Amino acid sequence: MSSQGDDGDGDAQGMAVDQQPPTTGSPFTVTVGATVPTGFEHTAAEEVREKIGADVRIGKDRGRIYFNIGTDRLFQVHLLRSVDNLFVVVDEYQHYQFKESKEETLAELMQLASKLPWANALEVWRLNNSLKKRRGRRRGANGAKGKAKGDAADAENTEEQEQHLPETQQSCEAQDQADPESSSLPSSLSPEEAPCQPQLLKFRVTCNRAGDKHSFSSNEAARDFGGAVQDFFQWKADMTKFDIEVLLNIHNEEVVIGIALTEESLHRRNITHFGPTTLRSTLCYGMLRLCNPQPSDVILDPMCGTGALPLEGAIEFNSAFYVGGDNNDMAINRTVNNISHIQKRKEERDSAPGLPIDSVQWDVCRLPVRTSSVDIIVTDMPFGKRMGSRKKNWDLYPSCLREMARVCRPGSGTAVLLTQDKKCFSKAVSRMGGLWRKSHTVWVNVGGLHAGVYLLKRTAGTFGETPEDIYEAGNSSREVTEKALS
Ligand SMILES: C[S@@+](CC[C@H](N)C(=O)[O-])C[C@H]1O[C@@H](n2cnc3c(N)ncnc32)[C@H](O)[C@@H]1O
Repeated sequence: MSSQGDDGDGDAQGMAVDQQPPTTGSPFTVTVGATVPTGFEHTAAEEVREKIGADVRIGKDRGRIYFNIGTDRLFQVHLLRSVDNLFVVVDEYQHYQFKESKEETLAELMQLASKLPWANALEVWRLNNSLKKRRGRRRGANGAKGKAKGDAADAENTEEQEQHLPETQQSCEAQDQADPESSSLPSSLSPEEAPCQPQLLKFRVTCNRAGDKHSFSSNEAARDFGGAVQDFFQWKADMTKFDIEVLLNIHNEEVVIGIALTEESLHRRNITHFGPTTLRSTLCYGMLRLCNPQPSDVILDPMCGTGALPLEGAIEFNSAFYVGGDNNDMAINRTVNNISHIQKRKEERDSAPGLPIDSVQWDVCRLPVRTSSVDIIVTDMPFGKRMGSRKKNWDLYPSCLREMARVCRPGSGTAVLLTQDKKCFSKAVSRMGGLWRKSHTVWVNVGGLHAGVYLLKRTAGTFGETPEDIYEAGNSSREVTEKALS
């Protein structure tokens, strides 16, 4: 971590964590940053501690975590399921003092480019590329995916901007003629590791900015910082077919410069047949962790849409058994296709037996499931915006909570339910105190919407015998009689 007054040595030899330059082949420690679903920072930290054994710092900027890792264990970062994107930190400033005027600030950002300790981060980028190549070879040609633009939808009050530089016309020929002393490749990159030698590396800068006290936009920061990076390394700017993505993350007075280690957000890992409200696999993972699935648990997603939740469960917590259901036939078709895609991928890789998952078309208010036979219900309910309507939710929520209470085991059953229709949900739960007890809520950001993941515990109350049940039963028979009479 740097303070702004640090005078970089200007030759890209400063270090983000280690003060010693790495000797070839010897592992060194770097800081890795990860973007995670907003609200699930602590869940992601828990996963990092569990799988990597590293101490985790939760970023000031929501939706980010940081941890140190030895380069010899870099492969482990790709085993994480709660992270969307990964990057290696080049340098960071906790209290960057931005100048008053836009011109001065942008000029200082430009100077920063040549002072940053790039070498370790570039070495990690190179190592990561060779890891990806190996993973790609194992996966085969089908695994190759095009670069998808990062999902900006989840960023609340955040601007994201790639730099818009004039494309330079530098070619292999121009590079050949360049002064051999002033190599355009960073010192840590051997010629064999460059994507196309002696061609220049292609790069882009992406700026994420949050905070209302900045005199500049993310577009301006990306453009000017990107221009300075280009001058420093003599790389070629390319917004779409880049080898390196430099990240400039600015959150109030925190500035973090990084290099991306993932090309595509890991939240797209399971789904090939998307629906209108497909949930990110990383968010699914967070919700499933809250459920704490145990071996042989029966886990239901009664409104599964594309099946994102039960699929993530069947892959990551595979000693439980999952059933995904939906009343919409298009949704069920998507689920079936998503399941068979993962089955095929699994067979190609390790020929292991199939996934512990099934899918059924049903109505969540009339589940063809035995009373008290389900351990966990995990579902993403219609918010009433893109899916269903707020008006319909007033009927749907109480009715489905009751049916979920019927099928869930009294005393031990759990429900982890996501919704943005908080008012309707809270009202429905409060009317069902004898069957469900609210344990806690995780506030998350789903596509820019502030939503709650509610953890409910099934009380020991017998279904149909709680005071609320008797009251509800009375109400519904009255409604039926009134309808019949009118
Ligand atoms: C928010 S979406 C779930 C999206 C899903 N998590 C995904 O990743 O694709 C809610 C789902 O509830 C389903 N749904 C609505 N009313 C239902 C009902 N009465 N019974 C079963 N499913 C229902 C909708 O068809 C929709 O697929």
